[in-house]
Amino acid sequence: MCGIFGYVGKGQKDVESTIIVGLERLEYRGYDSAGIAIIDDNGNFIIVKRKGRISDLKKALENYNIPPSKIGIGHTRWATHGKVSDENAHPHLDSNNKIAVVHNGIIENYLELKQELIDKGHVFTSETDTEVIAHMIEEYQKYENDYIKSVLYTVKRLKGTFALAILNREYPDMLIGVRKDSPLIIGIGNGEMFLASDIPAILPHTKRIIILDNEEIAILKSDKYQIMDFDGNLKNKQIKEIEWDAQMAEKGPYPHFMLKEIYEQPEVIERNIDKYIRDGEFLLLKDHNLRKLLLNKNRIVIQAAGTSLHAGIVGRYLIEHFAKIPVDTDYSSEFSHRIVDDKTLVMAISQSGETMDTLEGLRLAKKLGLEVLSIVNVVDSSIARESDYVIYINAGPEIGVASTKAYTAQITILLFLALELGYLKGFVDKKTIDYYISEIRKLPYVISSVLYKDTQIQYIAQKFHKHNHFMFLGRGINYPTALEGALKLKEISYIHATGYAAGEMKHGPLALIDENWPVVVINPKTSVYEKTFSNAHEVYTRGGKIISVVSERDEKMKEISQEIIEIPEVDEFLTPIVSIIPLQLLAYHIANLRGCDVDKPRNIAKVITVP
Ligand code: AGP
Repeated sequence: MCGIFGYVGKGQKDVESTIIVGLERLEYRGYDSAGIAIIDDNGNFIIVKRKGRISDLKKALENYNIPPSKIGIGHTRWATHGKVSDENAHPHLDSNNKIAVVHNGIIENYLELKQELIDKGHVFTSETDTEVIAHMIEEYQKYENDYIKSVLYTVKRLKGTFALAILNREYPDMLIGVRKDSPLIIGIGNGEMFLASDIPAILPHTKRIIILDNEEIAILKSDKYQIMDFDGNLKNKQIKEIEWDAQMAEKGPYPHFMLKEIYEQPEVIERNIDKYIRDGEFLLLKDHNLRKLLLNKNRIVIQAAGTSLHAGIVGRYLIEHFAKIPVDTDYSSEFSHRIVDDKTLVMAISQSGETMDTLEGLRLAKKLGLEVLSIVNVVDSSIARESDYVIYINAGPEIGVASTKAYTAQITILLFLALELGYLKGFVDKKTIDYYISEIRKLPYVISSVLYKDTQIQYIAQKFHKHNHFMFLGRGINYPTALEGALKLKEISYIHATGYAAGEMKHGPLALIDENWPVVVINPKTSVYEKTFSNAHEVYTRGGKIISVVSERDEKMKEISQEIIEIPEVDEFLTPIVSIIPLQLLAYHIANLRGCDVDKPRNIAKVITVP
């Protein structure tokens, strides 16, 4: 986590505001503190850093008159080592205030390196792991008198994960970027270069990027760049054109990215239909090797985190139903405890493609000699690049910390995959494929009609937003909908919310229920409708306040519900894509009414790049 940004130009841009705007676009990665370092045209550092949001940094900057400058770096922090404070905010400096470093990641051996540097007389001013980097470069420079070599020696001694942007007052035209495991992207402009943790920060300036690979260093000057490995060998890297446009990463008329992204869902599904369905066929498995791989496996393990895991659990129901392959799902952070053999396909699902737990799961599978198929949003992200096969979900940039459009896009892809695989294996006939394609094509309209219920959902939020506990219940393919509905609510509103398999209530959690518990029951018309109804009735009998998500004209559920949100009736296997929409909106409005920062909930960040 943490976002880093760097800029070097020729004076054509205001460095301070360029960095601040870049950081604002990375703020979803962490918002405990923020800071910038700029070298002015006289070779002096201007360092400003503050605990709190980028808005606090901006306020602090109002008291500074920053002289003309051409180069600078910035950071937005999600604290790992050292409490949230001005001192621990990045950038961090060496003893002589000559070198400034911003860092995303964790230096695992920093205590031992710090001691070594203290013994050599270095004085530290923060509790962070990052500060050792500036001091170590300084230390090597004393003996080497070669700045780049000093950086190379330093990074080779660091254990852990790191993306760095480094400035040195003795080299006021040079910006250095380093990558090991944490993402770092170079933007190539016209007489200017950018460094950033993620594409949206670079989008307003250029669409030409280079993605640094692990153990690479970029030496950037305003109109040239060099990339080398940690041994100093020069590397030839390909420049890529980004497909996303700058507008995709803007809030537009919406008050929050989350709301914008909820409303983008019909468009994202349409995009995936256009891309992956043609002439009555699904196109995901056109690659002969991927097809062969899938047809040869007799088990799939899906490993993912958070919302992506919930999509994976929906995928489990879909793949088992249509393709008849047993599927296990696991938190990536627990995946290392599972048994996998060469008949198992490991699947990684990730919006960002940078989640460290999922990346580690992928690497473990590769180490065991297994091939990995990933379902990813961010093109060329680490998970995408390290997988043997990737299917992109084409959701566009997702900035709100709460994942919404990526979730429905992931399920859409898993549905396509399950149907295509089922067809290839002979379990699904052409007529069934035709039926599902025609039902899938209706999805964008169906979702739009659910979005139309926003005002009703806002009213429900108004009625329930003061409750401090919620329960979400679902069964079968909507069990993961309950998990996801609860996750959405808890992460942005700080309300204690639990998602349960409806049938499990009677085995314990029912004891919690009294008239103070709102219970959201997801029960559209499916094969488990009656069973879910009975479970809901058990809650109703104990006084629980039921808010139900049901298919249109459901009189039975209406009788036991305080509030009812109707969704159009769709095929059972499409229901998770539709039934989550009202729950995303409910969480959004409740969080808003409670005064929470919807796009940037406390304590967490969008991309979790620490294990
Ligand atoms: C979802 O709303 C989350 N903020 C979080 O659980 C997220 O889904 C998880 O961290 C996985 O991220 P990824 O999809 O980018 O790998």
